[in-house]
Amino acid sequence: MTFSQPRSNPSSSEVTSDTSTAWWRDAVIYQIYPRSFADANGDGVGDLAGISSKLDYLLDLGVDALWLSPIFPSPMADFGYDVADYCDIEPLFGSLADVDALLEGLHRRGMRLLLDWVPNHTSNEHPWFVEAAQGPTSPKRDWYVWRDPAPDGGPPNNWRAAFSDTPAWTLDPVSGQYYLHLFLAEQPDLNWANPDVEAAMHDTLRFWLDRGVDGFRADVVHLIGKGQDVPDLPDQMAGAPVRWIDHPDAHDYLRRIRLLLDSYPQEPMMVGEVYLLEPGQAASYLGTPEDGELHLTFDFRPLHTKWDSDALTKAIARAQGEFSDPLWPTWVLSNHDRPRHRTRYGSDQRARAAAVLSLTMRGTPFLYAGEELGLSDGVVPPERVVDPGGRDGCRAPIPWTSEPDGGWTNPWLPLPENAETNNAQQQVGEDDSMHALYKRLLRLRKELPVLRQGSMNLLDVPPGVLAYERTLDGQRVVVALNLTDKPVDCTALAGAELLLASDPARLDLAQPLGPDEAVVARSNP
Ligand code: GLC
Repeated sequence: MTFSQPRSNPSSSEVTSDTSTAWWRDAVIYQIYPRSFADANGDGVGDLAGISSKLDYLLDLGVDALWLSPIFPSPMADFGYDVADYCDIEPLFGSLADVDALLEGLHRRGMRLLLDWVPNHTSNEHPWFVEAAQGPTSPKRDWYVWRDPAPDGGPPNNWRAAFSDTPAWTLDPVSGQYYLHLFLAEQPDLNWANPDVEAAMHDTLRFWLDRGVDGFRADVVHLIGKGQDVPDLPDQMAGAPVRWIDHPDAHDYLRRIRLLLDSYPQEPMMVGEVYLLEPGQAASYLGTPEDGELHLTFDFRPLHTKWDSDALTKAIARAQGEFSDPLWPTWVLSNHDRPRHRTRYGSDQRARAAAVLSLTMRGTPFLYAGEELGLSDGVVPPERVVDPGGRDGCRAPIPWTSEPDGGWTNPWLPLPENAETNNAQQQVGEDDSMHALYKRLLRLRKELPVLRQGSMNLLDVPPGVLAYERTLDGQRVVVALNLTDKPVDCTALAGAELLLASDPARLDLAQPLGPDEAVVARSNP
């Protein structure tokens, strides 16, 4: 199939590709899982009005932009990542008027809004798929990926779906053809090789950009390029879910998306979930300065790294190398797909040191709502499990008060295990709390351009320590973390002035770094 340019895209000469002063380089972005953030109507599921009611809390914390996991109409087979209409709001969350009010409230406070755009697949209840499923002659048939069975009548190839340990193909008994779904059978993959699909998906972006949103997180966006063939995976890869498709077509689609985004005056940003963990693969989805693709992409290797100075230093060094200027890295320690880092690392001290790390490196930090309260995952008994991917724990509702259900009425999931102590009511305004530490870190980032824009070099330090310097215009800040359970002297800090410590009891740098402690110090060259 040949490609035609989708309609009404600007040409590359009309847009600017210099992102060195873009807002999102300076920003800290806060991910909200809307079902679990705040519930204004008391039905046990969070909603847009709930988010709007917490904007002063978020402004006071000091974050710059919100990313909302999907809020579109959805049968909720994958809790919103199965979209039935890209241009409306799921009634559980509210209405278009509620999004407009949220946008207005954010913009009035100088904050921005990113939506979660799910381009790889729709819900099987999306009208496009309903029409496509009517039969091989349906005008929308080719909007999805249909194939005849293999000669033995089984699925067309050996691809496996995520979550379900089943083939990535489901047979439509009426037509005798299979359709592709890299995730649940309720999430059929769109066929981006069809220009009408590309144009329709561009229209969904325009719908929200015209309404004033400031950008998107693009769900598993590397998967949109598949090519025309769907060959078997080599034996050594067979049997695992297909997440590593890294097809050149995706780059063409992303270049055209970038032209669309860059033609809007609000400087929209798109951060891609590129779930490819090999060195350099995710960075390649940012394109080149001449031919930009995503503005940012997640790098999940630090999130998959244990609390170990060598392993973390390596993951950080690789990311800084692959995302060197003019590219720009991102930092993520927790999200709605993985156990929270407070749970993975196992203690408040480590979570405090990790906060220092994620907010002082070169790059754009993405915080996951509730990490500022040091939340651990919820413990979900078998009878309350709802997610087919086993991710309910990290989606536990945010405890706003010290009451048993944290201020929620019949919450849809149990609260975090440590909600009794780690809730907003107990922590906000408490000097030694995790919340106060995040607030201080966010303020320090705002005050010191070197923390936002400075270059970053890892330092040679004793085993068990991770340390780096940030430098800009004669300013030098050193950050050091002790990832062991013993005190460690760190000469990199000699003669420096303490700016912030993860241990609230520390007053200066006279003592060695304590176990799982992090410090930020000014040390002029
Ligand atoms: C991404 C999302 C995840 C979702 C999947 C399918 O990995 O983060 O929550 O289940 O894509 O859309």
